[in-house]
Amino acid sequence: MLGRFSGRTAAPPPQPAPPPPALARGPAVPAEAPPPAVAVPEPPKPGAPAAPAMPAPPASPNEKLLDAKVRLHRRLIEELNLAALEKLPADELRREIHGIIAQWVVAERLPLNTKELELFVSEVMDEMTGLGPLEPLLKDPTIADILINGHQNIFVERRGMLEPVPSLFKDEAHLMRIIQKIVSAVGRRVDESSPLCDARLLDGSRFNCAVRPIGVDGPLVSIRKFSKSKLSLEKLVEVGAIKPQMAEVLAAAVKARITTIVSGGTGSGKTTMLNALSAYISHTERLITIEDAAELQLQQPHVARMETRPPNLEGKGEIRQRDLVKNALRMRPERIILGECRGEEAFDMLQAMNTGHEGSMATIHANNPREAISRLEQMIGMAGLPMSQLSIRGQISAAVRMIVQLQRLADGKRRVTSVAEITGMEGEIIQMQEIYKYVRTGTDGDGNIQGHHVATGVRPRFLQELVAHGINIPGSYFDPSKPL
Ligand SMILES: Nc1ncnc2c1ncn2[C@@H]1O[C@H](COP(=O)(O)OP(=O)(O)O)[C@@H](O)[C@H]1O
Ligand SMILES: [Mg+2]
Repeated sequence: MLGRFSGRTAAPPPQPAPPPPALARGPAVPAEAPPPAVAVPEPPKPGAPAAPAMPAPPASPNEKLLDAKVRLHRRLIEELNLAALEKLPADELRREIHGIIAQWVVAERLPLNTKELELFVSEVMDEMTGLGPLEPLLKDPTIADILINGHQNIFVERRGMLEPVPSLFKDEAHLMRIIQKIVSAVGRRVDESSPLCDARLLDGSRFNCAVRPIGVDGPLVSIRKFSKSKLSLEKLVEVGAIKPQMAEVLAAAVKARITTIVSGGTGSGKTTMLNALSAYISHTERLITIEDAAELQLQQPHVARMETRPPNLEGKGEIRQRDLVKNALRMRPERIILGECRGEEAFDMLQAMNTGHEGSMATIHANNPREAISRLEQMIGMAGLPMSQLSIRGQISAAVRMIVQLQRLADGKRRVTSVAEITGMEGEIIQMQEIYKYVRTGTDGDGNIQGHHVATGVRPRFLQELVAHGINIPGSYFDPSKPL
C-alpha cells in the first residue's frame, strides 16, 4: 500500500523546526545539530577561475544567472552550516542569505538590479528551504499539473494542454534530492527497495513519484497542483465550459436542494464544478465536507470539514470515507458534500440523501450519466449488504435527482457534456432524461474541437420544486430551437 499523504506508511517525525515553505512537514533536523552558527563564506575573488566541476561559461544572461545560482548554491551548501540554517526562522534566514548573496553578486559582477537580486535570493532560498526548481512552477497559477519524466524532461499543463518546459535540474541527483526532501516530510525515503511514494505538499498539491528501477529513464514525478482560485460558475460560463442558461438551471437546482452528482473522468473538472455549485447553497445551512484530501473551498460560514486518514505502518488507525459519512449523520448536517465517491461509502451517502439531507452532493468517476448510475450500483455492492439489485436501484433513483457530466475533450477544454435528470424507476430500470447536451460538430485547423451546447427540449420535472422555492426558469431555456 502506498502512502497517500502524511502517515499512510509511517508516523511523521517529530517537528523540532518550523516547516519549510512548500512542505507538509519539515525534514527532521538531527537532534545533535550544532547551534545556529552561521558561517559567511568568503565572497569569491573577482575573476577567479571557475571551479573544475563548473560548466563552461554560458552565453545568455539567463543561463549565466542559472549557472551563478547553481554555483552559489553549491558554495552555500559547502560552506554554511545548513542544519543550523534550517533552524532559523524564514525571515532571518532570508536576511542572512540576502547578505551573502549581495556580497557575492558584487564580487561576481552580476548585472542585477534590486528586483532581480530579490528574485535571485528567492531562488536560492527555494533551493535551500523549498523545492528548488519546482518552486516557481508550483507558484505559477497558470500551471495545473507538473509532470517530470527524468530530470531533463519536464512538462506542465496549462489550459488543459501539456507543454514542455526547460529543465532547471542540474542532474538526476539534484532531482532526487528534491524528491527525498518531499517524501521525507511524510516520513519516507524512496530508493530501489521502495521506489513508489505518494505525498502531499503543504499547499494541498498532490505528489507522486516512481524512481529507478520502476522509473526506467529516471525519476518520474507527477504533481497535481492545488488551485487556490477555484473557478466560479460564472467563470466556467466565461471559458465556455457551460452556457449561462444551463448554469442558471444548475444553480437553481442546488438552491432548491435537488440532490446532484457530478460525474467525469480524471481531471475533467469534477471538483471544480462541485465547488462552483456549492456557492449556491444557502448560508443558513450547516454543511459537512468529506474528502481524502481537503480540496473544496466552500464559501458558506457554516462548514465542518473532514478528511480521511490512511492506516499507519502497522495497518491500524485508518478512518475511511464510510466512517466519516456515518459520523457526519450524527453531526446534524443540512447537507453532506462528499468530494469523491469511490466505494462502500456510496451506500451511506445514499442513505443520507434519502433521509432528510437532500441537496447533498458528490462526484463520481464515470464517462456518462448512465455509467455514473451503474458505478453507483457497483459501489453500493461493495458495502457488502444483502440488498437486491432492484432495491439498490430504488435507493439510487429515490436519492439522486440530477447528474452533471463533465469531459476533458481532446483539445484540453473541459466542458459540461450532459445534464441529466433521474425521474424514477420503470420496472427494474432507472429512468433518466437528458436536459442539455454538448454536440460536437468537428475540429478546426488548430485541433480545437468545435461544437455547442443544446437543450434537448425536455423540461426537467424538478422545475416545480424550483417554483416552490420562488425560482422561475424561463421556458425558452429548454427550447431546442433557441440558441443557448
Ligand atoms: N472549465 C475549466 N476550464 C479550465 N480549467 C478547468 C476547468 N475545470 C477545471 N479546470 C482545471 O482543471 C484541473 C482539474 O480540475 P479538477 O476539478 O481537480 O478535476 P477532477 O476533480 O475531475 O479531477 C484543475 O486545475 C482545474 O482548475
Ligand atoms: Mg477531483
